[in-house]
Amino acid sequence: MVKFDILILNGPNLGHLGKRQPEVYGCQTMDDMPDMLRQIMGTKADSVTLSHFQSNSEGGLIDRLEKARKDGVDGVVFNAGAYTHTSLALADCLAWIGIPCIEVHISNVWARTDQPLRQQSLIGEQCIGVIAGFGILSYALAVQVLHERLVN
Ligand code: DQA
Repeated sequence: MVKFDILILNGPNLGHLGKRQPEVYGCQTMDDMPDMLRQIMGTKADSVTLSHFQSNSEGGLIDRLEKARKDGVDGVVFNAGAYTHTSLALADCLAWIGIPCIEVHISNVWARTDQPLRQQSLIGEQCIGVIAGFGILSYALAVQVLHERLVN
């Protein structure tokens, strides 16, 4: 069976999911993700190998993306947190490493109209798509879509 290596990359302030503003980001954690993936993908979930990395620093995220390229990772599911809205450096990194990436958000950033900056993404242009607003399920949906892209 062909297996795809998918990196789940989480940016700043995403290391305490479940505790951080549950009214915005929910009560679930990344530990709940594999079960959700199994529910939506069934046995196809066996054909992805997931790794997960979280960093609060922009440089740490770039280093991890460069390592993913070196390691031949097949796809990235990326929640860059607030760096989504500000980081040209992360956009530059995604532009050259050439790994298919899906931008993910737990909250529906477009519905957070009181904070218009959240509707801007600097990394989105370098991604094949965006999934936002489904809590931790956003990550599982992104893995599923990435898997479909990699298979076809
Ligand atoms: C977030 C949305 C960002 O605006 C915010 O800075 C985050 C989390 C989300 O997953 O909803 O840290 O990326």
